[in-house]
Amino acid sequence: MDITPLGTLARTHTCGELTTEHVGQDVVLLGWVHRIRELGPSLVFLDIRDRHGLTQVVARDSEALAEAAKRLRAEFVIAVMGRVAARAPEAVNTKMQTGTIEVAAAELRLLNEAKVPPFSIADEVPIAEEMRLRYRYLDLRRPRMQQNIALRHRATMEIRKYFDEHGFLEIETPMLTKSTPEGARDYLVPSRVHPGEFYALPQSPQIFKQILMIAGMDRYFQIVKCFRDEDLRADRQPEFTQVDLEISFATEDLVFSTIEPLMGRLMALIGREAPRPFLRMPYAEAIATYGSDKPDLRPGMEIRDLSSVFRESSFSLFRGAIDGGGEVRGFAVPGAARYSRRELDDLIEQAKALGAGGLVWARAPDGAVQSPALKAAGEGAIQAALEAAGAGPADLAIMAAGPHDATSRVLGQLRLNLARKENLLAADAFAFLWVVDFPMFEWQEDEQRYEFMHHPFTAPLESDRHLIETEQGRARARAYDLVLNGSEIAGGSIRIHDQGLQRLIFRLLGISDEEAKLRFGFFVDALEFGTPPHGGIALGLDRIVAILSREASIRDVIAFPKTAQAVDLMAGAPSAVNAKQLRELKLGLHLER
Ligand code: AMO
Repeated sequence: MDITPLGTLARTHTCGELTTEHVGQDVVLLGWVHRIRELGPSLVFLDIRDRHGLTQVVARDSEALAEAAKRLRAEFVIAVMGRVAARAPEAVNTKMQTGTIEVAAAELRLLNEAKVPPFSIADEVPIAEEMRLRYRYLDLRRPRMQQNIALRHRATMEIRKYFDEHGFLEIETPMLTKSTPEGARDYLVPSRVHPGEFYALPQSPQIFKQILMIAGMDRYFQIVKCFRDEDLRADRQPEFTQVDLEISFATEDLVFSTIEPLMGRLMALIGREAPRPFLRMPYAEAIATYGSDKPDLRPGMEIRDLSSVFRESSFSLFRGAIDGGGEVRGFAVPGAARYSRRELDDLIEQAKALGAGGLVWARAPDGAVQSPALKAAGEGAIQAALEAAGAGPADLAIMAAGPHDATSRVLGQLRLNLARKENLLAADAFAFLWVVDFPMFEWQEDEQRYEFMHHPFTAPLESDRHLIETEQGRARARAYDLVLNGSEIAGGSIRIHDQGLQRLIFRLLGISDEEAKLRFGFFVDALEFGTPPHGGIALGLDRIVAILSREASIRDVIAFPKTAQAVDLMAGAPSAVNAKQLRELKLGLHLER
């Protein structure tokens, strides 16, 4: 069949639209050949596909038409002219939007051919991610990816509508700018007109949005690309999208009551709710109870302090840890009393790999207590520990001893591994949580100094302001994260609007007045011209859409993502530049390995 021009041919319907209501109508469909089934010399079925769905097309009765259909291949671009017919009851496909009808083709036109694709678009088979990213235009044709991208579109539309309704202005901030304060590495862009000088791509619009508050914009939002040259994981990309906002005269309550209904609107896109108010939990409690600053609340399995059980115990390992200022902590794994020896040994290995000195398990499946520590600790203590951990007869208790934070974190990681193993992370449950009262500063062991935990513009809790100079490790910040199913989907804070305090914080962070002037001089200057109290937050759009789409990786909700090595496999970026480009920039290349 020859390729024919489109001419004036226009589609009458999309491939996801036709139902029994259209029976008898003459239609024109345009799209890709999804699948072809030859059932006889003059009987060929094919599915035509576009972004909206699939429609079954049948070429029958005319041998010429069937012959034409047989020459088509998967991913050819075609036009189908024909009449809508109801399917026989036994041929109805309830899983297909258009499963009650088919189009009896009167004419098929070939609009373009396609090479044999390197993987099947029609079959849900696992495809190496490298292939998917290299041929992203084919990967994006797959129905699952089309749904993800469409959901992302609906989410951004909903977000824009929501902020417009709530008096926010969408304002663009520069992409070519100066180093920003989030702490990850900057991507630098050389300036041709100022040889030897560089712009930085923004890690976030943080300084600009604060300046917009000083500029009297009152409420700002932006759906904005941010760039961070940091080590990548499934939920991190070097360029990602934030829903960034800032509010003048903000309190935590105002920020939370702005974000919670927005999350409700986003959940509604997948037919779910986000009951308000969301739970709030201080950082210290999140670490103690879940061993994480982004706890996944779905599985329960709270970590508890079991020290009182072992304080007087004969079990020297636990008692020694307590005497040394540590704690015994543990939690119950529902239904895990059945674990085999191998599974239990594997748990101990996992704990060691996570840096724990050891791990003790206990269970009492039919009243009789079992534990490797049974002899050393005695039956009474193990029984009491099972009870204190909240473990019933079908459950397994997991215990570890050591310093509070370190022990909680190891148990927190095991808790997640076990929750996954036991299928307790239900894909259709959504647990929102505000983590609040983060520490202001974090001790950097290698540099022997404190570093800010969020960014240096975050205000201390009013009650902790006196601590920032004397006991930095204890001072808490007016910083908050929003966590959904164990993923940090947003982070923000109430900011410092007092220039004296801002200078003090820079000094405490070891940023000299000179360096502060160099890095944030314009901002510190601006602070002195009537800065309103303000605060804000930024949502990780990629992470939110990934959770709504039930995808494990944010790469599956980004049209053109990069690999874990920060490579764009389709475009081939990053790449070397030619000598002429470097000459124009007056740059020479000298690589230090
Ligand atoms: P923060 O650094 O917490 O805050 O970023 C806000 C949210 O953005 C998402 N996020 C990422 N998503 C994908 N890939 C990444 N590399 C990545 N890094 C962050 C997360 C995170 O919660 N300026 C402050 C916000 C503020 O204080 O208002 C900021 O950028 O979901």
